[in-house]
Amino acid sequence: MAQNSNFKSPKRLDALEGGAAGQSSGSVAGGKARGGSLDGVDFERRSFLGKAVVGVGAVVAASTLYPVVNYIIPPPEKEVKDKDEIVVGKASEVPADSGKIYQFNKDKVIVVNNGGTLTAVSAVCTHLGCLVQWKSDEKNIYCACHGARYTDNGQIISGPQPLPLAPYSVRVDGDDLIISKA
Ligand code: FES
Repeated sequence: MAQNSNFKSPKRLDALEGGAAGQSSGSVAGGKARGGSLDGVDFERRSFLGKAVVGVGAVVAASTLYPVVNYIIPPPEKEVKDKDEIVVGKASEVPADSGKIYQFNKDKVIVVNNGGTLTAVSAVCTHLGCLVQWKSDEKNIYCACHGARYTDNGQIISGPQPLPLAPYSVRVDGDDLIISKA
C-alpha cells in the first residue's frame, strides 16, 4: 500500500512528466549516450592491463602450485657415487674374537677379528637376506634365520645358502678401521 501511494505522489508525477520526459531517448542522466562514439576509450591501455592481470595471476598460481607439485612428484635423487674405501670406525671396536657390522656404501659388511686376524665379508646371508653374526665359540659366521654357517672369510660350511658371502678388504691405519672393495 505504501508503494502505491508513493507511486502516485505529485513529486514523482512531476518528475515523470517533466524532467524525465525529455530524456526518453534512452540515455542515462550523467552517463554517456547509448550507441555513442567510443572514441574516448583507450583499448590499448585496457589490453595491457588485462595482460598484466593475467601475468600476475599466472605468477601467483605458479608459486602456489610449485611446492604442491614438488611434493607430489619429488625431484629425482642425486646419484651418490660409491666410495672405494671408507673409514668405518676405530680398530678397538672389533677386539679379538668378535665381529661387528658396518655400513659400507649401500652394503652391510661384517668385520671379524678371528684371534687377531681381521676379515670382512658381506653381512647379508645369501639364502634369504638375513643379517649374519660372528659366533666366537664356534669361530664361524652364523645366520640365525635358517642356520647357515660360513667361515670367517665367507666360504660355505653348512646350511641352505647357495653362495658364499661377498668378500671385502679391511685394514687398520693408526686407530682407523678401513673397509674397501675387494
Ligand atoms: S636367510 Fe640365512 S639361512 Fe636363511
